[in-house]
Parts: sequence; C-alpha cells; structure tokens
Amino acid sequence: MAMKPRGAFVRSGKVKDIYKIDDNHLLFYFTDRVSAFDVVLPSTIPRKGEVLNKLSAYWFETLGVPHHMVALEGSNGMLVKTMKMIPVECVVRGYLYGSLFERFSKGEVSLPVERVLAAKLPQPYFDPTTKSEVKDEPITEAEIVREGRMTAAETAEVKNSTFAIYETMNRRAAAAGFILADLKLEFGRRDGRVILGDSIGPDEFRMWPADKYAPGKSQDSYDKQPVRDWLISVGYRDKLEKARKAGEPVPPPPLLPQDLIDLVSGRYIHIYETFTGKKL
Ligand SMILES: Nc1ncnc2c1ncn2[C@@H]1O[C@H](COP(=O)(O)OP(=O)(O)OP(=O)(O)O)[C@@H](O)[C@H]1O
Ligand SMILES: [Mg+2]
Repeated sequence: MAMKPRGAFVRSGKVKDIYKIDDNHLLFYFTDRVSAFDVVLPSTIPRKGEVLNKLSAYWFETLGVPHHMVALEGSNGMLVKTMKMIPVECVVRGYLYGSLFERFSKGEVSLPVERVLAAKLPQPYFDPTTKSEVKDEPITEAEIVREGRMTAAETAEVKNSTFAIYETMNRRAAAAGFILADLKLEFGRRDGRVILGDSIGPDEFRMWPADKYAPGKSQDSYDKQPVRDWLISVGYRDKLEKARKAGEPVPPPPLLPQDLIDLVSGRYIHIYETFTGKKL
C-alpha cells in the first residue's frame, strides 16, 4: 500500500521525492516517474517506485557493505541516513553498450575490444560521470581528484567497492539466468566514512536475459533500456541532443505508448521477483 510520506518535503529528484525527518534522517519516496537521458518523461510506469524501493532494500540488506538504509516504510518509502553525497556517479560496465559504445565508436575511449555492440569487455571498466542537474558527463579519475570531488585514496576505495559490488550482483544475476551488463552506484560521506547510498534497481543497471545474449545486436533489457530505445526510435534523443548543444530548452518529451509502459512495468516486477524470490 502506498503511504503518504511523513516529514518535511525537501525536493523532488527525477525519480524520488525527498523528505527530511530530522537532522540525521531522510525519507525517500520512490515514485513511478521515469527519466531517460536525464529528462523526466510525462508518463509513469505502474509499480516502478515500489520495485526500486524494495529491490534497493534487498541489495542493501544482502550485499554486505556499509549503506545508508535504516528501514523500509510502506511500499514506496525508505528511511535513510542523511549523507553528504559525493558528486560522482560510479558507473561500472562489463559490456560495450549504451553511451560507452557511442564514445568508443567516436574514438573518445580506448578499450582492448573490437567495435561490436554488446561485446563483453575483458574486465569490468570503471566509467564514472559527474552528477549534474543537466546531463551527467564522463569524468576521469584524475579529474575527480583535481576537481576536489574525492581524494585519490577515496577514489581508489570507491572504485574497488564499485567493482566488488558489481561482481557480487553479477554472480547473483548469473545464478538467476541474467547478465548484469552495467551498474551505477552513488556513495556519500557519513561519520568520516564513505558509504553506499541512493538506490539500486533497474533504473541503475542494465540486466539482460543470459539465454538471449548475443553480441552484435541490441539486447533485450529488463530495465529502462526499452524506454531509451523507443525515445531514440521516435527521434526524441536526437532532438534533445541538438537542443542541448544549441543551449536551447529541453524539448517536451513524448508520452510513452501503453504497450511499452506495460512491458517495462512487467519487466521491473519480474526482476524484483526473480532476485528476491518474493511476489511483489
Ligand atoms: N543518504 C543520502 N543523503 C542525501 N542525499 C542522498 C542520499 N542518497 C541519495 N541521495 C541523493 O538523493 C537524490 C535522489 O533522488 P533521485 O534519484 O530522484 O534524484 P536524481 O534526479 O537522480 O538526482 P538530482 O535531483 O540530484 O539530479 C539524488 O540526488 C541522490 O544523490
Ligand atoms: Mg537518481
């Protein structure tokens, strides 16, 4: 059951609404909003918020790493410890896909693989981005340190932790018949330590059914990818990139077709149920 969140409203992120409970605690309310290419879409995906909330809780409880979660509150609420977030999105990729494939194709990154869409990388690749209000941009480890986002020691720690979490999650994915293609984590500072924050669900990763995996084509994806693919197919992505380059306002995103909404909702629920072994 969706509960009315308590606390004082702080702000709405793209997906979560944030409430302040006290000086040390926030309440995240996971909505059904969906964003793609850093734009919030006018359609919502039924039960997406509940999946992200409860699946995040599952990962926090079972990964065995320090995290910010205190407790679940109802179906869409999570009480967390307030942190000072590190302004870096810690992306790790096991496969040449999405924006990494595009950047690799343009020669912006060099990797020891052939230019084949969805090719498995010889080893997971740490591919951090900035956390931006407008659009997250790739950033190097050297830039992270130079810009004062993290110290060199913190950068190394967070990178190792990101790899370790990816490995754990990918092992569990493999056991469930999936491939964890990539993953985005956020860390924050709390009591002088760097700990895992934010959320971990199909908004934060790409999950491919292993039996359908084949390099050289776009993959069936149990996450937000069908939404991105549809926006690309109707030309919205191109329009958005052009507007951004020209410094123009974001063009209004289109409503998603109902069959796509149903497909994505079903896939989010499927991923939750597969990993937790529970019915949503
Ligand atoms: N423990 C925490 N304490 C404070 N902030 C947190 C914590 N965990 C995550 N956050 C931040 O809360 C926000 C979560 O909301 P959501 O994911 O919807 O926002 P977003 O749109 O991705 O981010 P933003 O609004 O910053 O661009 C993010 O900015 C995230 O970095
Ligand atoms: Mg977010």
